[in-house]
Amino acid sequence: AAASDGPDCPGSLIVVSNREPYRHAYEDEPPTDADAETASDTSISVDEPTGGLTAGLDPVMQETSGTWIAWGDGDADFDVTDERNCVAVPPEDEEYTLRRLELSEEAVDSYYYGFSNRVLWPLCHDFPDLIEDRSNDFEWYRTVNEQFTDAVADHATDDSVIWLQDYHLALAPRMIRESVPPGATIAHFWHIPWPSPTTYQHCPAGGHLLEGLLGNDLLSFHVERYADRFLDCVDRFLPGATVDRAQRTVSYDGGTTRVVATSMGVDADSYDRVARSADFEQVSSLFEEYDIPQDTAIGLGLDRLDYTKGIPERLAAIERFFEWNPDWRGEFTFVQKATPSRTNIETYERHGELVRSEVQRINRRFETDAWQPIVYTEDVLPNEALCALYRRADVMVVSPLVDGMNLVAQEYVAASVDGDGTLVLSDRTGAHERLGSHALTIDPTDTDGFAVQLEHALSMPPHERRRRMNTLRQRVFNGDIESWMSTQFDWIRRVHGDPGRKRRR
Ligand code: G6P
Repeated sequence: AAASDGPDCPGSLIVVSNREPYRHAYEDEPPTDADAETASDTSISVDEPTGGLTAGLDPVMQETSGTWIAWGDGDADFDVTDERNCVAVPPEDEEYTLRRLELSEEAVDSYYYGFSNRVLWPLCHDFPDLIEDRSNDFEWYRTVNEQFTDAVADHATDDSVIWLQDYHLALAPRMIRESVPPGATIAHFWHIPWPSPTTYQHCPAGGHLLEGLLGNDLLSFHVERYADRFLDCVDRFLPGATVDRAQRTVSYDGGTTRVVATSMGVDADSYDRVARSADFEQVSSLFEEYDIPQDTAIGLGLDRLDYTKGIPERLAAIERFFEWNPDWRGEFTFVQKATPSRTNIETYERHGELVRSEVQRINRRFETDAWQPIVYTEDVLPNEALCALYRRADVMVVSPLVDGMNLVAQEYVAASVDGDGTLVLSDRTGAHERLGSHALTIDPTDTDGFAVQLEHALSMPPHERRRRMNTLRQRVFNGDIESWMSTQFDWIRRVHGDPGRKRRR
């Protein structure tokens, strides 16, 4: 395909993910039947919960007239076109099909809030103490994976490329294998870390998950470390599987799965473009709205409100920084934008309360009449405002305790079009492998060391700042979302030709 069509996919693409690429919501009341024909007017808002993935895959989906299957949790069903709950994308000009699965409340509670986010999320991020293994959650996880499988089977043909996303769907690959034509290729991208065997042993139904994932022809992780740990877990917990370390393949039950590392990037051109057209009026009014003095240096944090993101540790480092550097009081403002997430889970609820109360405490300690050290907001900001903030931020702080990749770090770099921002980056993120050498590295739990790096970031000579950002930008643009997808599709093409595949079924 021509470059403008996106990377060349070796078949008709079926993407399967928990979140839908587009979520439609009514801003006011849903339209009545009488005005249904004008339903595409401004009463409907559309956002992209899968972020970079949607942007990157859109051209490929259109090129292959693909199908995207996802849980339909948006509240709009105005444009359902058939009894299978299929929606045309884009609505006015059907290029591909979005199939939205309806999940019962109980299914969502057990599969999404249960096994996915009370077991697999803490397990993979190495928080075994936070695992809550409630009865029935795994059974529902299996049932919902079956529901996804049935939907895939409705659309799959012998030349389909079935591409699953993330930890919500670990059992589906093997089920899909048994229900689609033998020529179809099954691939899976695992967006979060994979844990060591020491942690994995805490996984309820751990053997079933490994078996499920080995239904794939291709299983990809962001970095080599996660791929290696996956092989370690198979070795240790799945009798009957043969691991070939040199080839990075696993043979199990008559099939072969290749395990690779291909780190994901962002749509760098788009962040660059939006940041270049950033309207500084907008930044000024944002600053006014949040009472940020216009001329202070800006630090920025941008995260889902999740215990893996290291926000309390970051706040502690900021507090230490102001303790040690009183001259910076009134001269540096840290803007923390947080997005509440999975709030039905008590651990998340409590974590949110902790973050908010720490912000208040630190602000009370240092604030003056004209200035607050930390400006905290949970407001939804439009993409233009975000890019403008990225561009304006002198220091971006990305400090997770564990993170599969972290795309925010890359978005910041792509949006730093003036070349003069500094990235402070946790060495426990997948992003650190690519960006660590030119970011300022921190151990997020070392409060003193973290505070020193904040000071270093703010006092760095401009030429050094530019030199670092220049290299970071090259890396982010060279490894953008499009090159990630090309690499995925190259691997898919390769495994399609693997002799091991023919022995399936
Ligand atoms: C992580 C996961 C994604 C997930 C996102 C938002 O990045 O890897 O699969 O979509 O968090 O979480 P949510 O639970 O709101 O989908």
